[in-house]
Amino acid sequence: MYPQTRLRRLRYNATLRQMVSETSLSANDFVQPLFVVYGENKKNSIKSMPGQFQLSVENLVAECKELAQIGVKSVLLFGIPEHKDEHGHVACQHNGIVQEGIRAIKKELPEMYIIADVCNCEYTTHGHCGTIFDGDVDNDLTLVTLAMQSVSLAEAGADMIAPSDMMDGRVDAIRTALDDAGFLKIPIMSYSAKYASGFYGPFRDAAESAPQFGDRKTYQMDPANSDEAMREIEQDILEGADIVMVKPALSYLDIIRRTKDDFNIPIAAYSVSGEYSMIKAAAANGWIDEKRIMMEMLTSIKRAGADIIITYFAKDAVLQLKSQN
Ligand code: PBG
Repeated sequence: MYPQTRLRRLRYNATLRQMVSETSLSANDFVQPLFVVYGENKKNSIKSMPGQFQLSVENLVAECKELAQIGVKSVLLFGIPEHKDEHGHVACQHNGIVQEGIRAIKKELPEMYIIADVCNCEYTTHGHCGTIFDGDVDNDLTLVTLAMQSVSLAEAGADMIAPSDMMDGRVDAIRTALDDAGFLKIPIMSYSAKYASGFYGPFRDAAESAPQFGDRKTYQMDPANSDEAMREIEQDILEGADIVMVKPALSYLDIIRRTKDDFNIPIAAYSVSGEYSMIKAAAANGWIDEKRIMMEMLTSIKRAGADIIITYFAKDAVLQLKSQN
């Protein structure tokens, strides 16, 4: 108790502050999401996400080279196909846009760890995350295309499969399909607790994946719920998920912490497009210190319990870590 105890004693010296620091970020923590678009020589800037682009395959490879050089070791790929269809079958094709992207990266950079997002929304004409039946996304029909898409991405060379659709039973369906195809060693990182969030707005511009009718509330979670997130996570672990994800990150730090306390499994947190855009916009106005807030936000996600942080700031954060050393 005071005056014997003075907590400030540990704060007066910078070296000591570092010694007692409880959380540190490292380049190993980060995954950079990238958008691969059909066509040649495209580098379309995404208006609502300054610094992020839709990249055609050769530019995707160039970006990965730069990331590797800086020290970012993993990317999460999303695709913008030339044509969409009713069921998202374009996502399951050998020459699908993400499949092409994966092969091109692996050819030049075999070490780059590629995580492939699995979902239908970028590939369906209606923009929903699955097959529509009777005016809503049909769970079990969707499992079929998700499994096909996963196997196709693994065949192209993806190192990890990350389903983001929020269908019930998808981890089991994908695990079974991967194993049947011989991909026993490919882990599944499940977007287990994925909320129906306004923070995905800028991403839907980037991935051209906004639903053309209705919303995603019949499959993504209600932001008010936390007990339910634990049930989602439990189910995914039982179905064979290797890593569970909480998404978005910043408004859901309590969910990350609960997951950390309740389960013994690696946790990923996805700091989504809206989190990125808010910081970028405020910084562009000179209202906040971008680098400082970026690092503070990422530290808070790690402190909450995340092992892996998926963030559009991955490159900038690694550069920042380097400049601090
Ligand atoms: C696809 C998917 C979305 C995001 C990742 N995968 C969008 C959505 O569910 O509408 C959002 C990522 C971001 O906002 O950065 N289902």
